Amino acid sequence: MGIEEIWTEKYRPKRLADVIGQGNITKRLESFIETRSLPHCLFAGPAGCGKTTTALCIAHELYGDKIKGKFLELNASDERGIDVVREKVKEFARQPAVDTAGLFRIVYLDEADALTKDAQHALRRTMENYSHICRFILAVNYSGKIIPPIQSRTAVFRFSSLKEDDVISYLKIIAKAEKLKIDEAAYKAIMKVAEGDLRKAINILQLASTSKTIDEDVVYAVTSRADPAAVKKMLETAISGQFRSARLQLLSLLNDHGLSGEDIIKEIHSQLFDLDLSDRQKLEMIERVGEYEFRLTEGSNPHVQLGALLAQLALIGKK
Ligand SMILES: Nc1ncnc2c1ncn2[C@@H]1O[C@H](COP(=O)(O)OP(=O)(O)O)[C@@H](O)[C@H]1O
Ligand SMILES: [Mg+2]
Repeated sequence: MGIEEIWTEKYRPKRLADVIGQGNITKRLESFIETRSLPHCLFAGPAGCGKTTTALCIAHELYGDKIKGKFLELNASDERGIDVVREKVKEFARQPAVDTAGLFRIVYLDEADALTKDAQHALRRTMENYSHICRFILAVNYSGKIIPPIQSRTAVFRFSSLKEDDVISYLKIIAKAEKLKIDEAAYKAIMKVAEGDLRKAINILQLASTSKTIDEDVVYAVTSRADPAAVKKMLETAISGQFRSARLQLLSLLNDHGLSGEDIIKEIHSQLFDLDLSDRQKLEMIERVGEYEFRLTEGSNPHVQLGALLAQLALIGKK
């Protein structure tokens, strides 16, 4: 990709109004910004739904282009414990303010739920010691992992995982700006892999963008995920009793597409439910898949194990 800018940065919104899919959260924050007052905040939600982006938008709206020295981003799991966090906050609070006089600064602490309970108590004291200068925004996956004294001192904002339509519209804006040739099936494939994580979805789009045209094959190739259609065909071939042909298809998935045994078995598992078989046959097959998945995670040879699994499926299919 050379010196090309990372799209997750290039297309990150700068204003709260442009953050998508988090409806009333952005409205609530806008009203804080109007009055130039902000409580300490707890942002809870899954990866890639806009927590960091929202915090940066708050900073942009408050400080405009004088953001330097006003926004400190730390990661609780990188910073090797609360002592480092405390030192960095201290240093940050000590810097002389640039103009925006009187306005607090923002400390964004990502993965705050990685801190132990003791460390969280120390964090709470740090928040109190610096609350005349700094507002803290803590980001977590689950608010339940945060000690009650911190929860009660923060305004909690629950971010939701983004909806498929929202993610696809966002990707389409980027695709247009980057002049990509991409079809609908490719968007669906990206969604399947990214599962509501917009960061992941944008990264996949950028990886795929080195192809002249982007279809679902390109998406599965850059994400090293098994193409569902290819796996389905292999399963149907095996179950109809054409074992040799199914095995050749397996070899192609493993060798030509560079997939791991685990990638393939994961896809087999999710496809089995939709096959045209009796419930009894499905149950038997699912049980076998579980057994072979275990062998693969223990490091057995995927050619041998998946070949054996196909043979088992062929036998069950005959019953
Ligand atoms: N709700 C959203 N609105 C707009 N862009 C978003 C949203 N959620 C994620 N993104 C995009 O996805 C990338 C990652 O978002 P980020 O805010 O860092 O996620 P996280 O919730 O993990 O902090 C950024 O490029 C950002 O532009
Ligand atoms: Mg983040």
